[in-house]
Amino acid sequence: MVVESYGEVDILDESHIVTVRKTIREAASRIGFGVTDVTRIVTAGSELARNAFHYAGRGVMRWQEVENGQSIGIELVFEDHGPGIANLEQALEPGYSTSGGLGMGLPGTKRLMDEMDIRSRVGEGTTVTVRKWRRK
Ligand SMILES: Nc1ncnc2c1ncn2[C@@H]1O[C@H](COP(=O)(O)OP(=O)(O)OP(=O)(O)O)[C@@H](O)[C@H]1O
Ligand SMILES: [Mg+2]
Repeated sequence: MVVESYGEVDILDESHIVTVRKTIREAASRIGFGVTDVTRIVTAGSELARNAFHYAGRGVMRWQEVENGQSIGIELVFEDHGPGIANLEQALEPGYSTSGGLGMGLPGTKRLMDEMDIRSRVGEGTTVTVRKWRRK
């Protein structure tokens, strides 16, 4: 049996956010995260999927199992080719939204995950990478 330790979900339609959530839930559970961490990871991934769909119209989520010296973990990468984010610092402030939203997606995601990296260029798109670690 081959154990899948990476995968990809296209986000082309609002319903695919549900697919992203399900995929992350299964992957994080299989990697061995407890229910509380699984919920945190799913919630974070859901916000990033919503952002890709809402601001860029479409995107892709890739996940993989990762490993460092002490821990194994999960990495999620959300990539889109939408408008990009002009001011990242501002986008990460709780309450900042250009769409009349709560402005809690990015700051919430940062709080729920161990690492977050955002690469964005106006007119080119946005790639958000998040990681969560668990003890081996
Ligand atoms: N993938 C993206 N492409 C372009 N802009 C983005 C993207 N993700 C976030 N942003 C910008 O960052 C802002 C903050 O995002 P965040 O997810 O924190 O809040 P929100 O989407 O406005 O509201 P919500 O609380 O419903 O998520 C957005 O309003 C938007 O301007
Ligand atoms: Mg959002």
